[in-house]
Amino acid sequence: MLRVWRLIQGGYAIVKERETFASRLGFVLISAGCAIGLGNVWRFPYIVGQYGGAAFVLIYLLFLVIMGLPIMAMEFSVGRASRKSILASFQVLEPEGSKWHWYGWFGMAGNYLLMMFYTTIAGWLLLYFFKVAAGEFRGLDAAGVETAFGAMQGNVGIQLLFMGIVVVLGMLICSRGLKNGVEKVNKAMMLCLLALLVVLAVRALTLPGAMEGVKFLFDFSFDKLTWMSVLNAMGFTFFSLSLGCGIMVTYGAYLKDSTDIPNSSLWIAYLAIQTALLAGLMIMPAVFAMGQDPNAGPGLVFVTIPFIFSQIPFGWFFMILFNVCLLVAALTSSVSLLEVCIAYLQNEWHMKRISASILCYVGLALLGFVSALSFGVWSDVKIFDRIIFDFLDWFCSNIMMPLGGLSIALLAGWKAWNSTYVQVNLVKKYSASANAFIKFSLRFLAPLLVLVVVATGV
Ligand code: PHE
Repeated sequence: MLRVWRLIQGGYAIVKERETFASRLGFVLISAGCAIGLGNVWRFPYIVGQYGGAAFVLIYLLFLVIMGLPIMAMEFSVGRASRKSILASFQVLEPEGSKWHWYGWFGMAGNYLLMMFYTTIAGWLLLYFFKVAAGEFRGLDAAGVETAFGAMQGNVGIQLLFMGIVVVLGMLICSRGLKNGVEKVNKAMMLCLLALLVVLAVRALTLPGAMEGVKFLFDFSFDKLTWMSVLNAMGFTFFSLSLGCGIMVTYGAYLKDSTDIPNSSLWIAYLAIQTALLAGLMIMPAVFAMGQDPNAGPGLVFVTIPFIFSQIPFGWFFMILFNVCLLVAALTSSVSLLEVCIAYLQNEWHMKRISASILCYVGLALLGFVSALSFGVWSDVKIFDRIIFDFLDWFCSNIMMPLGGLSIALLAGWKAWNSTYVQVNLVKKYSASANAFIKFSLRFLAPLLVLVVVATGV
């Protein structure tokens, strides 16, 4: 394989010429595919309503600009400068003798933790797809749907089976390589997801009484705006953009030299927000039109929505579309999560892509079982008062990802600001005042905010 010498920080690093994304659109869509997941489609609608409507959205946008975008751009820059897996990226770029590369282990472990509960939900979605197609929810009232959901959670065998299918699907996509597998599939799935969401939002908005839902989402409810809104908006910034766990570093490593990182980051964030808003505009109007409780939280997708669709003409059809949307969102994110570990095995252990994919996914299947079992035989096992599944969700969004973001912000703001890779990839693309702001954000604002989120989370 061709080896090239690349000048970094005044020293030399050997960098293997590796696969790059076929196009900028592919890169933006694949990264957006990673960012857009269950968080945007499933979590966003209910937390917006719960924490202040438009006021919450504004706070979220503010955090996105002051810390989300700078951290995302920095993750891409680190990856592109080293063209290696997360661990090696930091080893190449960190000041000699320092320990920034520990972040790589943290990121990889975090990805597995995230995947453990993510695959469980993806398994439910796949199972729901078949249940809806078979007409299982037809004629049920809300309590009936809830019972069906509870029964599914209690059935360990079926959960493991469908989680296993999701794992195999992910493995097949990843093992085909970056361009032919991950990029192609993600590109197609993301475009489908956006189109489907538009169709569903139009359907929901044309139901009688739908405007109440729009009001719930976008009214400025200052009375609901509390300290918890601010904290949730911060945590959600990391979760919704998939920051802090090394994915964007990994993708940055496949990025062409000519791709404009700040501009692409803006596009990715825009797509993520737009999808979240579309999901909100699809879910809340339907919830209000059918007189359901908008604060049903996580149960919204698995109980409230199936019930709503079972009540409207051709609802089963729209429910299938909705399920496909969520499944696509979950799959594109989960494929990205394991890409981090696959890239590590390829880079560091020189494994073939196919063997790396199989190894990573077998590990995932074993770990995923633990999370799925927490609804059945292990429902008594509690960590910090939460069942394993809930603990993983809480730990990843409130602790792991913000801490990962903190490492990136500190490295970029304090240690590496003057290095060639930050200067070339970021600083030279912005005006002096924008730079001053980004530097301030990476040095002070983002670290401070993260510490507050983590401290409060704990
Ligand atoms: N951004 C994803 C979502 O909103 C979650 C995620 C986080 C996915 C980190 C991959 C990595 O659902």
